[in-house]
Amino acid sequence: MTKGRSPLKTAPIGVFDSGVGGLSVWREIVHLLPGESMLYLADQAHVPYGARSPREVAALTHAAVAWLLDQGAKLIVIACNTASAAALTSLRQQWPDVPIVGMEPAIKPASQATKTGQVAVLATPGTLRASRFSNLVERFANGVQVYTLMGTGLVEMVERHELSGPTVERKLQKVMIPIQDVAVDYLVLGCTHFPFLRESIQKVVGENVVLVDPAPAVARQTRRVLQNRQLQSHANGPVSWRFVTTGDLPAFRTSTKRLLGDILASPEKPISFQALDKKKLHFSGA
Ligand code: DGL
Repeated sequence: MTKGRSPLKTAPIGVFDSGVGGLSVWREIVHLLPGESMLYLADQAHVPYGARSPREVAALTHAAVAWLLDQGAKLIVIACNTASAAALTSLRQQWPDVPIVGMEPAIKPASQATKTGQVAVLATPGTLRASRFSNLVERFANGVQVYTLMGTGLVEMVERHELSGPTVERKLQKVMIPIQDVAVDYLVLGCTHFPFLRESIQKVVGENVVLVDPAPAVARQTRRVLQNRQLQSHANGPVSWRFVTTGDLPAFRTSTKRLLGDILASPEKPISFQALDKKKLHFSGA
């Protein structure tokens, strides 16, 4: 879809992340909107984004969105907190006619729900250092103490499909040190990779801490935007699910299948996996 052209209702929703993390958002969208075709792009040639400069992340994200639009996507979901923090504003400036749904750490619902007045946000350094994040805290924390936890190295673990076991737990224990002696009752998962570590995180922080994943809210927002723009697909025919990576295709196929499990077992949907040469993303800064 290019600027000024009206997209087809049957065109896919384009979902973007640096890697497999955005699949935690993809699955919520598919659950809510089973009649939509989906195009998922993982920029695994450049993962992790969290340690890159905001300029680099913004350039990579713009290139990815340009590619998704070129493929005909009717709506874009930036299923990555780090990319949203670095690029959401400039993306909307570059493509004012394109509906773009972004992510932000769910500080508002956590701050409204906390009983102890202490919440924590687990995210990448890129997300936590962004002005978008400090603005969120300023607007929504409302006197609640917000602890920030840098999830350095966790994205790579999920990419390697290391989701549980002693090494993962040891790593998580280290990350949680700043809150080990405080009564945090809500922990915001501020990176789309982290819902895949949910069980291990819960084990480390204990059962009394509620983990907040914004993915279902992002799926509802996607539905709202489609409805408002009258872009919802009413197709009864088969929808397609396409998964594309700039990284290693066999590894991506394997981890996508493991992370999505039964959802991909649905026999009637055309599902395809494809590699994309990272040079096709027209990014010259890495
Ligand atoms: N899933 C991305 C996020 O939500 C991970 C960023 C990264 O690649 O470090 O922030």
